[in-house]
Amino acid sequence: MANRPTPFDAIAIDGPAASGKSTVAKVLAQTLGLTMVNSGEMYRAVTLSVLQHGANPSSADEVLGILRGLELSCTVEGGVSRILVSGEHPGEALRSETVNASVSGVAAIPEVRLQLVDLQRSLLKQSDLVMEGRDIGSVVFPETPYKIYIEASESVRSERRAAEGLTDSVSERDRLDRSRKTAPLVVPDGAVVIDSSQLTIDEVVEHSLSNLRELGWFTRNSQDVEG
Ligand code: CDP
Repeated sequence: MANRPTPFDAIAIDGPAASGKSTVAKVLAQTLGLTMVNSGEMYRAVTLSVLQHGANPSSADEVLGILRGLELSCTVEGGVSRILVSGEHPGEALRSETVNASVSGVAAIPEVRLQLVDLQRSLLKQSDLVMEGRDIGSVVFPETPYKIYIEASESVRSERRAAEGLTDSVSERDRLDRSRKTAPLVVPDGAVVIDSSQLTIDEVVEHSLSNLRELGWFTRNSQDVEG
């Protein structure tokens, strides 16, 4: 199509912390044979680098100073896109409690978002994607018709984090993510909203697939799955 900058399509999955969106995105990507991108990893990688350099994550000047020196890229392993810093994946440290505590502040800095959104958009030049995050349907790929917003009650989300052995304060991160000026967490225009509080992952995936079917994903891409 003449006006399309890329022949590939993105499925955008957004929602608050511990809503189940990463797991759903992973299963959807496997089911549909697409690359899965966890955009939160990118914000976590910048935050981790800031902390490792001893810089102050609350200072936009210091964060941007570190960001300027970072060599960020992505690689795809087993259908999952991974962030690389100077050619290396930072590993488990991305999900440490110190990163949890600072990442929403770093992600609120407009220049950080500009650079990472560019990186996220560049991935659609290579393949169809399932990308999950906070602003995928609203900012990164607003033109995609395939938008899913997954939510869950705060108590369910806190229980899910605790079951993973984490004390991450999801409510504080949500508050910051929803109230920031640039690209706040919102239900994107045209997104289907799925409340996962009382649903299993399989049920959320089923809802998502039937929504994609209604939106014509399968006829557009000449494929279908059972279900
Ligand atoms: O997996 P979890 O829900 O804990 O969070 P994540 O997806 O790893 O994202 C970590 C943080 O990065 C979020 O709390 C947001 O502050 C930020 N983020 C963002 O601002 N925009 C995105 N597209 C993805 C993540």
